[in-house]
Amino acid sequence: MTGPSVFPGGSGLFRLGTTVAHLNHGSFGVVPIPVAQAWRRLQDEASADPDAFFLGVPDRVAEARTRIAHHLGTAPDGAAFVANATEAAHLALDAVRLAPDDEVLVTDHGYGTVVAAAARRARVVTVALDPTLPDEEALRAAVLAGVTPRTRVAVLDQVSSPTARFIATPRLLADLRDRGVTTIVDGAHAPGALAEPLAGEPDFWFGNLHKWGYAPPGSALLVVAPQFRERVPAPVPSWEHDRGFPRAVEYRATVDYTGWLAAPEGLALLAELGASRVRRHNSALAAHGAHLLARIPGMTPLPYDERLPMRSMRLPPGMARTAPEAVALREEIARRGFRVLTWPWAGGGGMRVSGQIYNEPQEYERLAGVVARVLDGR
Ligand SMILES: Cc1ncc(COP(=O)(O)O)c(C=O)c1O
Repeated sequence: MTGPSVFPGGSGLFRLGTTVAHLNHGSFGVVPIPVAQAWRRLQDEASADPDAFFLGVPDRVAEARTRIAHHLGTAPDGAAFVANATEAAHLALDAVRLAPDDEVLVTDHGYGTVVAAAARRARVVTVALDPTLPDEEALRAAVLAGVTPRTRVAVLDQVSSPTARFIATPRLLADLRDRGVTTIVDGAHAPGALAEPLAGEPDFWFGNLHKWGYAPPGSALLVVAPQFRERVPAPVPSWEHDRGFPRAVEYRATVDYTGWLAAPEGLALLAELGASRVRRHNSALAAHGAHLLARIPGMTPLPYDERLPMRSMRLPPGMARTAPEAVALREEIARRGFRVLTWPWAGGGGMRVSGQIYNEPQEYERLAGVVARVLDGR
């Protein structure tokens, strides 16, 4: 682990506004200028000759998918572009064909829209995971304790959003498979952030390219085990509907495909900057932020993983216990110049900070001062 530093040229690669410091890359990502330029060129090309552009789209989408699949270390014909993690969760759950009395196991670290996708289709059983459990082994045991004879599917975070913990490890996935449970892994944070983005061999894995992969928003990949591929429904059956997975899933009539076509440029930029250097930098910044915030009375850092560019902590007791309280706190911190994630969860609130190459150590120093004053005033 290196100490926090400024990434040379990092902030110049983005067009972020200057009224707030963006310490929340993990929520939506930010498109770097070279990727935005490639994206813009594709839009110009589509405007210049729409017929040529749209007739060529399915093959170009397949080429872009192939580049991304290589980066992720998976087979291009076993993966499909989708709009985002939420859409991927719906498609995966439809492919499993759940009966209403099947149980879907989730955890209370799961992302709201993904858990809601499961709840629309089956009975959700939520395993409460103490966020202070020390390691992946303890989390694995807690998840397995929630498996019942009716558990058909487990939907698990590879890296959880509020708590930044690794949950769906290869070992846990193998244990679930041994118990006959179909596994769906929410890898929303994995592409770009992790050197090994695919978690073992789940039945379904999806990851956003627009978070840590520097891709335009609306770019994600859904990776599907062979036995489920032809069961993944096309979100909008169109001219490629009889081409099977993945083309039938990807081609959705006349929509804007330029974000997907530009997505490989994000991963190419990451490689050019030095992916492991970027990851070390981002992790060191997040660690710096967490260290400073942890000095505020009542703040409790959660166990963390050095591979991650995000760190989470519990807020002092009584702070941000409900969604409106968490939003109010987040907005107050934003008014004072900083974007961070706050969340209400299991009787208490939390805060997450991210690190990215446009961030600088002193932003976290100023954030810690502001958070200390805001919490003191409540
Ligand atoms: C773990 C996790 N899953 C799913 C999502 C949803 O992503 P999207 O809005 O791209 O569907 C997020 C977004 O932050 C997330 O952190």
